[in-house]
Amino acid sequence: MSNGMTRPECVGGAAPPAALPSVRWLDGRAAAAVVKQRVADAVAHWKGPVAPGLAVVLVGSDPPSAAYVRGKVKACRQVGFHSVQVDLPATASTADVLASVGALNRDPAVHGILVQLPLPPQVDAARVIQAIDSAKDVDGLHPDNLGRLISGRPGLVPCTPAGVITLLDHYAIPIAGRRAVVLGRSVLVGLPLSLLLMQRDATVTVLHRQSPDPREHTRQADLVVSAVGRPGILGADWIKPGAVVVDVGITRTPAGLVGDADPSVASVASALTPVPGGVGPMTVATLLANTLRAAETHVGA
Ligand code: GUN
Repeated sequence: MSNGMTRPECVGGAAPPAALPSVRWLDGRAAAAVVKQRVADAVAHWKGPVAPGLAVVLVGSDPPSAAYVRGKVKACRQVGFHSVQVDLPATASTADVLASVGALNRDPAVHGILVQLPLPPQVDAARVIQAIDSAKDVDGLHPDNLGRLISGRPGLVPCTPAGVITLLDHYAIPIAGRRAVVLGRSVLVGLPLSLLLMQRDATVTVLHRQSPDPREHTRQADLVVSAVGRPGILGADWIKPGAVVVDVGITRTPAGLVGDADPSVASVASALTPVPGGVGPMTVATLLANTLRAAETHVGA
């Protein structure tokens, strides 16, 4: 998606405008700390035969994926979960990954299973996800859980979209009756998030690569969530003054992690998530909450 326009801050080579004092930064670390404390308290009073346990499967050694997995394992330790990391070589076959998933499905100390995505091209990701016991599918990507989400029945919900809703609720940002635009339609983020926003009575537009005039939609939105993964795709001229912007895009650059929102968005939006420190911590916190929920369901709590 390209807006095909010159951004205001580029005119005449002027420096980007500083954020207005009124922009509210939606601090994902602070909101995640509340979720993690709730999970840690539940673990401290846990009556089940074994502590809640999460297994993370990493295939290969892609540095960003390995970093995400380290963060997830560390978070498990912080809240007192049992945690297992299964490392498979980048050459692993679908059968190899299915064998690991099968063993974790049978392991009574494991209540949640997450297979880190993306998987190497020789591995059939859809088969792997479908092989996870849906009661342990803390990523919420199994067709059973996605079906539950679509039909509004309780189930495990994908971590990043659920984390976005928790973050908005933490800051008491209204959703019902609002015009929301979601950029991106992935199964991990855009698609489930659009469903969650609709369930909360937002009017939702989903934009993707083939959407004509995306800016015409975002400029009317009260809430814009960008999950594209293209730094700066969201310029200030895409945003209605006073809108809330949630930046799910995370791209690694030599200068560090950057989101989809151009820094100038802070001069137009009323509230904005930082990158890093916005949605990322919410994804991990929601993974812990989902694992606790899976463990509670397992013991009938
Ligand atoms: N890779 C990037 N985000 C995610 C996620 O939420 N779950 C899994 N399994 N892999 C990811």
